[in-house]
Amino acid sequence: MMAKDFDFNRLVIVGAQWGDEGKGKVIDFLAAQADVTARFQGGDNAGHTVVYGANIFKLHHIPSGILNPATLCLLGNGMVINPQVLVRELDELEKRGIKTDNLRISGKAHLIMAYHQAMDEANEKMLGEQKIGTTGRGIGPAYADKALRRGIRAVDMLDFSRFCERLGGILPLQNKILQNIYGHPGFKYEELCESYRPVCEKIGPLIIDASLLLAEQIKNKKKILFEGAQGALLDIDHGTYPFVTSSSTVAASAASGTGVGVVWIDNVIGVLKAYTTRVGEGPFLTEEKGEAGAQLRERGSEYGTTTGRPRRCGWFDSVIARYAARINGLTGLAVTKLDVLSGMDVVRMAVAYRRRGELIRHFPLDPSVLKECQPVYEDFPGWDEDLSHARNITDLPAAARRYLQAMEDAVGVKIEIVSVGPDRSQTIICPGTPTAGWMGR
Ligand code: IMP
Repeated sequence: MMAKDFDFNRLVIVGAQWGDEGKGKVIDFLAAQADVTARFQGGDNAGHTVVYGANIFKLHHIPSGILNPATLCLLGNGMVINPQVLVRELDELEKRGIKTDNLRISGKAHLIMAYHQAMDEANEKMLGEQKIGTTGRGIGPAYADKALRRGIRAVDMLDFSRFCERLGGILPLQNKILQNIYGHPGFKYEELCESYRPVCEKIGPLIIDASLLLAEQIKNKKKILFEGAQGALLDIDHGTYPFVTSSSTVAASAASGTGVGVVWIDNVIGVLKAYTTRVGEGPFLTEEKGEAGAQLRERGSEYGTTTGRPRRCGWFDSVIARYAARINGLTGLAVTKLDVLSGMDVVRMAVAYRRRGELIRHFPLDPSVLKECQPVYEDFPGWDEDLSHARNITDLPAAARRYLQAMEDAVGVKIEIVSVGPDRSQTIICPGTPTAGWMGR
C-alpha cells in the first residue's frame, strides 16, 4: 500500500446540473497541467466542443487532454464505448494533424454494439409519450447488458477470434429481443462480426490495465484529471429518475470507474452554467419557455453537441446546485457562460421551491413531486457590459460580481474558475484557490 501524499494531484471535474455545463472547456483548460486525463463513465452520449484558436473539435469518447501530446488520455472501465464511433473520432483527429498515440483504453470497459443502439432507438419509439429523450447512442442497453453479465468488453477485442466467439454466443438472444419485442429485423452474425474486424485491429493495441497504470502514476505523484460526463441530476441513483442516464455521474465513480481507491481523490470541482439547460424529457423547474429562454438559447448557442437538439433553457437553480454539491462533495465551483447573461435586465436565481404553500430548500427525495413545486426566485440587477475580455474577477462589472457572490453563497462552495467565453484564454482563475495552485499560479 502506498502512503497517501497530501499534495493536490488528483482532481475530479463533474457536471453539477443536467450536463452541458461547459465541462469540456474547463477540462481543456486544466488539462494543460495534467499528466493524465481519465474518463470514468458514460459513452458517446457525451459531447464536448473544444475551441482552440481557429480549430473546433467535437469529441464524444476522447478526453479533451488529447489535444496536449504530453497528456496521457484514458478511457476507464466505468465507460461504455462504441468502438466504431471511437475509431471515427480518432480518424478525424488524425486527419487534422492531432496525434492520438497518447490514448489508452481500459480492457474492462464495456462495448456499445450495433444492437444496443437499435434497441435504444426502438425502445424510445415504443415508449411514445413516456420516452426518456435519450441520445439514441445505445447507452442504456449497453449498461443493462453489463449488469446482466452478457456484455462484450474491450479486452475481448484483443483477439478477433475471441471477439467473434463472444458475439456469436450473445447475438441470438439479442436478435430474439430485437425481433420479438421491437419488430426489428435483427443482425446477421457474419456481417456484423466482419464490420468489427478493422475496429478491433485499430483499438486492440490501445487496450491496457488502466488501474495498474494509474497506480504507477499516483506513485510518481503525477497530476491526474478525472473527467466526468453528463451531470449530477442525470445520475442513475441521484438524478431525476427515470429521466436520467444509465451511469453514475457523481465524483465517487471517478474511483470505481477507473480502478483507483477513493482516498486518492484530492479535490472535486463542480461545473455550473450561470443559468440552467437540459436536453431530453424530465422535470426542470426554472425552465423559461418564453422570451428569456429563447434569448439564453440563442446567445448561449444552446444546441446539443451529440444530437443537435435545442436545449431547454432557464434560470440558475441553486436548489439543484446545492444538491449537486452534497452528492459530489464539491470542493470548488467553475461557473461557465457568465458572458451569456450580459444584456438581461434582470437575472433570476431560484433559491428555494414552494410546494402547497411550504418552502423547500433541499432537492426532494421523489422528483415526481417537482410537478407540484414552483421556484422561489431572487432577482438581481443585470449588466450590459461585454464580459468576454475579462481576465480577472476585478475586470467584471459590479452587478456580475454580485451575482457570482450570490451563487457562491447559495451553493455554499467557493467559485474557483469563471468562464467568459469558449476560448481557453477567456478564463478567470480566482486567486488563492486550489485551482490557481494546480495551474501553477
Ligand atoms: P442517454 O444517456 O442517451 O441514455 O440519455 C438519457 C438522458 O440523459 C437524456 O435526457 C439525454 O438527453 C441525457 N444526456 C445524456 N448525455 C448527455 C450529455 O452529455 N449532456 C446532456 N444530456 C445528456
